[in-house]
Amino acid sequence: MTAPKLKVASLQAAYGDVQVLWDVTLDVMPGEMVCIIGSNGAGKTTLMRVISALLPAKAGTIQVDGVDLTGATSARMVEAGVAHVPEGRRLFSAMSVRDNLLMGAYLRPDKAGIAEDLEKVYALFPRLAERQRQDAGTLSGGEQQMCAVGRGLMARPSLLLIDELSLGLAPRMVELLADGLRRINKEGVAVLLVEQDVMNALELADRAFVVDRGRVTLSGRAAELADDPAIQDAYMGGLA
Ligand SMILES: Nc1ncnc2c1ncn2[C@@H]1O[C@H](COP(=O)(O)OP(=O)(O)O)[C@@H](O)[C@H]1O
Ligand SMILES: [Mg+2]
Repeated sequence: MTAPKLKVASLQAAYGDVQVLWDVTLDVMPGEMVCIIGSNGAGKTTLMRVISALLPAKAGTIQVDGVDLTGATSARMVEAGVAHVPEGRRLFSAMSVRDNLLMGAYLRPDKAGIAEDLEKVYALFPRLAERQRQDAGTLSGGEQQMCAVGRGLMARPSLLLIDELSLGLAPRMVELLADGLRRINKEGVAVLLVEQDVMNALELADRAFVVDRGRVTLSGRAAELADDPAIQDAYMGGLA
Protein backbone atom coordinates (compact mmCIF):
# COMPACT_ATOMS: atom_id res chain seq x y z
CA MET A 1 0.00 0.00 0.00
CA THR A 2 1.23 3.52 -0.79
CA ALA A 3 2.12 5.56 2.26
CA PRO A 4 0.37 8.93 2.44
CA LYS A 5 2.49 11.88 1.33
CA LEU A 6 1.48 13.51 4.60
CA LYS A 7 -0.17 12.02 7.64
CA VAL A 8 -0.98 14.17 10.64
CA ALA A 9 -2.38 12.32 13.64
CA SER A 10 -3.91 13.67 16.86
CA LEU A 11 -2.00 16.91 16.46
CA GLN A 12 -2.19 19.50 19.22
CA ALA A 13 -0.61 22.94 19.28
CA ALA A 14 -0.68 25.93 21.60
CA TYR A 15 0.65 29.44 21.97
CA GLY A 16 1.78 29.45 25.58
CA ASP A 17 -1.24 28.41 27.63
CA VAL A 18 -3.69 28.98 24.82
CA GLN A 19 -4.42 25.76 23.00
CA VAL A 20 -5.29 26.28 19.34
CA LEU A 21 -5.26 22.80 17.77
CA TRP A 22 -6.97 19.83 19.41
CA ASP A 23 -6.55 16.37 18.03
CA VAL A 24 -6.22 17.20 14.33
CA THR A 25 -5.94 14.16 12.09
CA LEU A 26 -5.65 14.42 8.32
CA ASP A 27 -3.81 12.96 5.38
CA VAL A 28 -2.78 13.87 1.86
CA MET A 29 -2.05 11.10 -0.64
CA PRO A 30 0.75 11.42 -3.21
CA GLY A 31 -0.34 13.69 -6.06
CA GLU A 32 -3.56 14.66 -4.30
CA MET A 33 -4.93 18.17 -3.83
CA VAL A 34 -6.57 18.62 -0.44
CA CYS A 35 -8.05 21.80 0.98
CA ILE A 36 -8.66 23.00 4.49
CA ILE A 37 -11.72 25.11 5.09
CA GLY A 38 -12.51 27.04 8.23
CA SER A 39 -13.48 30.42 9.62
CA ASN A 40 -11.04 33.09 10.67
CA GLY A 41 -9.14 32.00 13.74
CA ALA A 42 -10.04 28.32 13.31
CA GLY A 43 -6.36 27.35 13.43
CA LYS A 44 -5.57 26.80 9.74
CA THR A 45 -2.39 28.86 9.69
CA THR A 46 -1.27 27.29 12.96
CA LEU A 47 -1.78 23.85 11.41
CA MET A 48 0.31 24.74 8.35
CA ARG A 49 3.05 26.15 10.58
CA VAL A 50 3.16 23.03 12.72
CA ILE A 51 3.32 20.80 9.63
CA SER A 52 6.31 22.71 8.26
CA ALA A 53 7.90 22.76 11.73
CA LEU A 54 7.83 26.52 12.15
CA LEU A 55 5.91 25.85 15.35
CA PRO A 56 6.39 22.78 17.55
CA ALA A 57 3.58 20.31 18.06
CA LYS A 58 2.43 19.89 21.64
CA ALA A 59 1.29 16.35 20.96
CA GLY A 60 0.59 14.11 18.00
CA THR A 61 2.63 12.98 15.03
CA ILE A 62 3.59 14.17 11.56
CA GLN A 63 4.66 11.64 8.94
CA VAL A 64 5.93 12.31 5.45
CA ASP A 65 6.06 9.33 3.07
CA GLY A 66 5.60 7.04 6.05
CA VAL A 67 8.57 8.50 7.95
CA ASP A 68 7.92 10.05 11.36
CA LEU A 69 9.21 13.62 11.26
CA THR A 70 7.56 14.87 14.43
CA GLY A 71 9.97 17.32 16.05
CA ALA A 72 12.16 17.63 12.94
CA THR A 73 13.59 21.02 11.95
CA SER A 74 11.95 23.11 9.25
CA ALA A 75 15.01 22.53 7.03
CA ARG A 76 14.49 18.79 7.42
CA MET A 77 10.86 19.18 6.34
CA VAL A 78 11.99 21.03 3.21
CA GLU A 79 14.50 18.25 2.50
CA ALA A 80 11.67 15.74 2.91
CA GLY A 81 9.84 17.55 0.10
CA VAL A 82 7.51 19.86 2.03
CA ALA A 83 7.46 23.51 0.89
CA HIS A 84 5.34 26.18 2.58
CA VAL A 85 3.83 29.22 0.88
CA PRO A 86 2.96 31.29 3.96
CA GLU A 87 -0.06 33.46 4.57
CA GLY A 88 0.78 37.02 3.54
CA ARG A 89 3.47 35.71 1.15
CA ARG A 90 6.48 37.03 3.10
CA LEU A 91 8.57 38.06 0.10
CA PHE A 92 11.69 40.20 0.43
CA SER A 93 10.24 43.36 -1.07
CA ALA A 94 13.59 45.06 -1.77
CA MET A 95 14.96 41.98 -3.56
CA SER A 96 14.29 41.11 -7.21
CA VAL A 97 11.69 38.55 -8.23
CA ARG A 98 14.49 36.27 -9.39
CA ASP A 99 16.37 36.49 -6.10
CA ASN A 100 13.17 35.83 -4.15
CA LEU A 101 12.61 32.73 -6.26
CA LEU A 102 16.18 31.58 -5.69
CA MET A 103 15.65 31.87 -1.92
CA GLY A 104 13.34 28.87 -2.26
CA ALA A 105 16.28 26.78 -3.49
CA TYR A 106 18.72 27.76 -0.75
CA LEU A 107 19.10 24.21 0.55
CA ARG A 108 19.83 22.75 -2.88
CA PRO A 109 23.36 22.13 -4.15
CA ASP A 110 22.35 21.22 -7.74
CA LYS A 111 22.97 24.40 -9.74
CA ALA A 112 21.79 22.92 -13.04
CA GLY A 113 18.54 21.68 -11.49
CA ILE A 114 17.95 25.08 -9.91
CA ALA A 115 18.36 26.86 -13.25
CA GLU A 116 15.99 24.36 -14.82
CA ASP A 117 13.36 24.88 -12.13
CA LEU A 118 13.64 28.65 -12.45
CA GLU A 119 12.74 28.31 -16.13
CA LYS A 120 9.82 26.06 -15.18
CA VAL A 121 8.48 28.68 -12.76
CA TYR A 122 8.78 31.33 -15.48
CA ALA A 123 6.93 29.07 -17.91
CA LEU A 124 4.21 28.52 -15.32
CA PHE A 125 3.86 32.23 -14.53
CA PRO A 126 5.17 34.24 -17.53
CA ARG A 127 4.50 37.49 -15.66
CA LEU A 128 7.35 36.56 -13.33
CA ALA A 129 9.73 36.13 -16.27
CA GLU A 130 8.81 39.58 -17.56
CA ARG A 131 9.38 41.07 -14.14
CA GLN A 132 12.31 38.99 -12.93
CA ARG A 133 14.61 41.98 -12.33
CA GLN A 134 11.94 44.08 -10.68
CA ASP A 135 11.82 44.36 -6.88
CA ALA A 136 9.19 42.00 -5.49
CA GLY A 137 7.68 44.91 -3.53
CA THR A 138 6.66 46.59 -6.78
CA LEU A 139 4.54 43.63 -7.98
CA SER A 140 0.75 43.55 -7.75
CA GLY A 141 -0.75 41.32 -5.06
CA GLY A 142 -1.47 38.54 -7.54
CA GLU A 143 2.04 38.68 -8.98
CA GLN A 144 3.47 38.55 -5.48
CA GLN A 145 1.43 35.43 -4.83
CA MET A 146 2.80 33.91 -8.05
CA CYS A 147 6.27 34.74 -6.79
CA ALA A 148 5.54 33.13 -3.40
CA VAL A 149 4.20 29.97 -5.05
CA GLY A 150 7.19 29.97 -7.41
CA ARG A 151 9.58 30.31 -4.47
CA GLY A 152 7.91 27.27 -2.91
CA LEU A 153 8.38 25.32 -6.15
CA MET A 154 12.07 26.19 -6.23
CA ALA A 155 12.56 23.74 -3.37
CA ARG A 156 11.35 21.06 -5.84
CA PRO A 157 8.70 19.85 -3.36
CA SER A 158 6.53 16.77 -3.52
CA LEU A 159 4.05 18.50 -1.18
CA LEU A 160 3.22 22.18 -1.41
CA LEU A 161 1.46 23.83 1.54
CA ILE A 162 -0.35 27.00 0.50
CA ASP A 163 -1.87 29.24 3.15
CA GLU A 164 -4.54 31.47 1.56
CA LEU A 165 -4.08 31.36 -2.20
CA SER A 166 -6.62 33.97 -3.26
CA LEU A 167 -7.15 36.28 -0.26
CA GLY A 168 -7.50 39.89 -1.41
CA LEU A 169 -6.66 39.20 -5.06
CA ALA A 170 -8.43 40.24 -8.25
CA PRO A 171 -10.57 37.48 -9.85
CA ARG A 172 -8.35 37.35 -12.97
CA MET A 173 -5.30 36.77 -10.77
CA VAL A 174 -7.10 34.07 -8.79
CA GLU A 175 -7.84 32.30 -12.08
CA LEU A 176 -4.20 32.42 -13.19
CA LEU A 177 -3.06 31.12 -9.80
CA ALA A 178 -5.66 28.34 -9.78
CA ASP A 179 -4.61 27.31 -13.32
CA GLY A 180 -0.99 27.26 -12.21
CA LEU A 181 -1.86 25.18 -9.19
CA ARG A 182 -3.75 22.66 -11.32
CA ARG A 183 -0.72 22.30 -13.57
CA ILE A 184 1.64 21.86 -10.64
CA ASN A 185 -0.67 19.23 -9.21
CA LYS A 186 -1.03 17.46 -12.57
CA GLU A 187 2.73 17.13 -12.70
CA GLY A 188 2.53 15.10 -9.50
CA VAL A 189 3.03 17.61 -6.69
CA ALA A 190 0.60 17.04 -3.83
CA VAL A 191 -1.03 20.21 -2.51
CA LEU A 192 -2.49 21.09 0.87
CA LEU A 193 -4.39 24.30 0.37
CA VAL A 194 -5.93 26.70 2.87
CA GLU A 195 -8.45 28.84 1.06
CA GLN A 196 -11.07 31.29 2.32
CA ASP A 197 -13.01 31.09 -0.95
CA VAL A 198 -14.73 27.80 -0.22
CA MET A 199 -16.28 27.43 -3.68
CA ASN A 200 -12.91 27.95 -5.33
CA ALA A 201 -11.26 25.53 -2.90
CA LEU A 202 -13.80 22.77 -3.38
CA GLU A 203 -13.58 23.17 -7.16
CA LEU A 204 -9.81 22.79 -7.10
CA ALA A 205 -9.39 20.06 -4.52
CA ASP A 206 -9.98 16.30 -4.52
CA ARG A 207 -10.80 16.21 -0.81
CA ALA A 208 -11.43 18.69 1.95
CA PHE A 209 -11.22 18.96 5.73
CA VAL A 210 -13.28 21.44 7.70
CA VAL A 211 -11.51 22.86 10.75
CA ASP A 212 -13.57 24.55 13.44
CA ARG A 213 -12.03 25.93 16.63
CA GLY A 214 -8.97 23.76 16.25
CA ARG A 215 -10.74 20.50 15.47
CA VAL A 216 -11.56 18.67 12.24
CA THR A 217 -15.35 18.63 12.22
CA LEU A 218 -16.01 17.28 8.72
CA SER A 219 -14.07 15.75 5.85
CA GLY A 220 -14.75 14.07 2.54
CA ARG A 221 -14.63 14.34 -1.23
CA ALA A 222 -14.64 17.99 -2.25
CA ALA A 223 -17.49 17.46 -4.71
CA GLU A 224 -19.65 15.96 -1.97
CA LEU A 225 -18.87 18.69 0.55
CA ALA A 226 -19.77 21.32 -2.06
CA ASP A 227 -23.29 19.82 -2.11
CA ASP A 228 -23.57 19.60 1.67
CA PRO A 229 -26.18 22.07 2.98
CA ALA A 230 -24.29 22.45 6.27
CA ILE A 231 -21.20 23.62 4.35
CA GLN A 232 -23.25 25.89 2.14
CA ASP A 233 -24.91 27.52 5.14
CA ALA A 234 -21.75 27.90 7.20
CA TYR A 235 -19.20 28.86 4.55
CA MET A 236 -20.95 29.96 1.36
CA GLY A 237 -23.68 32.13 2.77
CA GLY A 238 -26.21 29.57 1.54
CA LEU A 239 -25.73 30.82 -2.02
CA ALA A 240 -24.14 27.80 -3.60
N1 LIG B 1 1.52 34.02 17.37
C1 LIG B 1 0.37 33.83 18.06
N2 LIG B 1 0.31 34.00 19.41
C2 LIG B 1 -0.83 33.78 20.09
N3 LIG B 1 -1.98 33.39 19.53
C3 LIG B 1 -2.01 33.21 18.21
C4 LIG B 1 -0.83 33.41 17.40
N4 LIG B 1 -1.15 33.15 16.12
C5 LIG B 1 -2.45 32.80 16.12
N5 LIG B 1 -2.97 32.83 17.36
C6 LIG B 1 -4.35 32.49 17.73
O1 LIG B 1 -4.58 31.14 17.36
C7 LIG B 1 -5.89 31.00 16.83
C8 LIG B 1 -5.80 30.39 15.44
O2 LIG B 1 -5.16 31.30 14.58
P1 LIG B 1 -4.76 30.93 13.09
O3 LIG B 1 -4.08 29.63 13.09
O4 LIG B 1 -4.03 32.09 12.53
O5 LIG B 1 -6.20 30.77 12.41
P2 LIG B 1 -6.67 30.85 10.89
O6 LIG B 1 -5.46 30.75 10.02
O7 LIG B 1 -7.60 29.70 10.72
O8 LIG B 1 -7.37 32.16 10.72
C9 LIG B 1 -6.54 32.36 16.88
O9 LIG B 1 -7.31 32.43 18.04
C10 LIG B 1 -5.36 33.29 16.96
O10 LIG B 1 -5.69 34.47 17.64
MG1 LIG C 1 -4.72 31.97 8.53
